[in-house]
Amino acid sequence: MSLEQGIIILICCIYVLTNVYVAVGNEPFLTSYNGSFLNVTFPALQNIQNALNEAGVGDSVKATVPLNADVYNSPDNNPVPSAGRFRTDILQLMTEIVQFLDKNQAPFSINIYPFLSLYGNDDFPFNYAFFDGDTNPIVDAGTGIQYTNVFDANFDTLVSSLKAVGFGNMPIVVGEVGWPTDGDKNANAGNALRFYNGLLPRLGTNRGTPLRPGYIEVYLFGLIDEDAKSIAPGSFERHWGIFRYDGQPKFPVDLSGQGQNKLLVPAKNVQYLSKKWCMFNPNAKDVSKLADNINYACTFSDCTALEYGSSCNNLDANGNASYAFNMYYQVQNQDDLSCNFQGLATLTTQNISQGNCNFIIQIATSSAFSLRPSSSSLLVALLAMLLSALLLL
Ligand SMILES: *[C@@H]1O[C@H](CO)[C@@H](O)[C@H](O)[C@H]1NC(C)=O
Ligand SMILES: *[C@@H]1O[C@H](CO)[C@@H](O)[C@H](O)[C@H]1NC(C)=O
Ligand SMILES: *[C@@H]1O[C@H](CO)[C@@H](O)[C@H](O)[C@H]1NC(C)=O
Ligand SMILES: *[C@@H]1O[C@H](CO)[C@@H](O)[C@H](O)[C@H]1NC(C)=O
Repeated sequence: MSLEQGIIILICCIYVLTNVYVAVGNEPFLTSYNGSFLNVTFPALQNIQNALNEAGVGDSVKATVPLNADVYNSPDNNPVPSAGRFRTDILQLMTEIVQFLDKNQAPFSINIYPFLSLYGNDDFPFNYAFFDGDTNPIVDAGTGIQYTNVFDANFDTLVSSLKAVGFGNMPIVVGEVGWPTDGDKNANAGNALRFYNGLLPRLGTNRGTPLRPGYIEVYLFGLIDEDAKSIAPGSFERHWGIFRYDGQPKFPVDLSGQGQNKLLVPAKNVQYLSKKWCMFNPNAKDVSKLADNINYACTFSDCTALEYGSSCNNLDANGNASYAFNMYYQVQNQDDLSCNFQGLATLTTQNISQGNCNFIIQIATSSAFSLRPSSSSLLVALLAMLLSALLLL
């Protein structure tokens, strides 16, 4: 199966019914969850796979638990892939889950984020997050293998962890991999382009990793930006899309893995609202309530582009206010009443974008999907497609 087919399944499983997975939970064993899902995840996995088996579709539909790479690690005194083991606090549970997956011929699903390796650690060697080899290899003394990027090293740490519990050949699916384009100093289109330009050709050659040569099934994360997603992990969370909020590609991506300078096909016939922006009113008399109003606007819209290292971080104070007011106005579908802010805001028909900082215009959503703007209506459409796919089964 080619990489392109893999991505089509991710987007919608109507077209190719070879690999269909049911995801049970989403990274349920993150250490930051304090063990909240340790007791329920495995029983849920068992119930779902058993139900699929009893319904007679267990051969083609596999339940699996998408896990974060923090379920395994290597010891601090030997931080190499060959020393990889499942976390000691969940070793028993992970062993039982892996046994169950194996019995049902289901794959292990893992999310690997080189961006997060960088985000969490300023000492992390920057180039090691990418694939262009411009870095001192890290030599695994256990195997003699030289690692030049953290994706391979991380993947092989999982292979070693599986081997240590007796399942070194278990199929592995990378459930999520990608690079965000805003919300952090390392999250921008240039770095994302560099990452995908390394990742996709590698996948295209079926080179695999040192411990697992060959084809790897990989799903990119994500499709489009999500302006209402929780930013508990960081402001970058809303900017993982290879497409912008309006379905337009952010940078060239060649999904065939041939490294050509190709743009993804943009969403067709996207309708936008009028070219009207909401901005800070330069004639405002009383600005004592400005901070409160910005805070209100940003509570109900997405201001992550204003954060440190982001695309709009170099605006002046008035520019900040305009950005916040405009985001709120657009997410309210340009409702006139939403560009007032106690007299601090005013409408303009001039594009007030500055440099890389884009003051967006909302997309016009059809009446059927007028509940919530932007990404959520696309989600509704995707859900509808998924539902119809399930009915086809
Ligand atoms: C986990 O524990 C920390 C510290 O006690 C707490 O701040 C956090 O909210 C907890 N998270 C969850 C998901 O329970
Ligand atoms: C999980 O089960 C154990 C043993 O029954 C219990 O002590 C623990 O409180 C449970 N944890 C949660 C988060 O429910
Ligand atoms: C603009 O807003 C950002 C994010 O809230 C803040 O870090 C920055 O200091 C503000 N700039 C000015 C000039 O007020
Ligand atoms: C506004 O200007 C920015 C930057 O110049 C540009 O990228 C954007 O497309 C413009 N927006 C509209 C709606 O014309």
